[in-house]
Amino acid sequence: MSRIERTLSIIKPDAVERNLDSKIKEIFVINGFTIVQEKKIQIEKSEAEKFYKVHETKPFYNELCSYLSSGPIVVMILEKENAILANRELMGSTNPKEAEEGTIRKKFGISIDKNSVHGSDSPENAKIEIDFFFKV
Ligand code: CMP
Repeated sequence: MSRIERTLSIIKPDAVERNLDSKIKEIFVINGFTIVQEKKIQIEKSEAEKFYKVHETKPFYNELCSYLSSGPIVVMILEKENAILANRELMGSTNPKEAEEGTIRKKFGISIDKNSVHGSDSPENAKIEIDFFFKV
């Protein structure tokens, strides 16, 4: 079944630092996503810890949160039919070394930490993540 969905996308510090944000946004638009809202921000480590709470038991949690708060990021609400899955396909595998040709992480990712983009992994998390950054 196809339906219009919204998902949260983050352009991570490694990509913003290399001035790849415009290029990555263009890839989303070319692939049929509408950027409904966007903002460039830098978050505190405590906010990154809240955002990535689902990973709090993982061995990489501390490093992950330090990294996300280490520099400016671009957060976006993306909209498209089946946006959550479509975005995950366009991003490619979490580890850029395993990502498929043509995906954003294959093109721009440096490592499993510096993998350039984040995208929500389910409708439930998309709502939580969109509210986290954009709820007024
Ligand atoms: P992201 O989609 O933002 O969600 C959690 C992040 O943890 C993931 O991308 C990776 O950048 C990071 N990460 C670091 N180490 C690992 C790991 N071993 N497995 C999965 N994700 C990892």
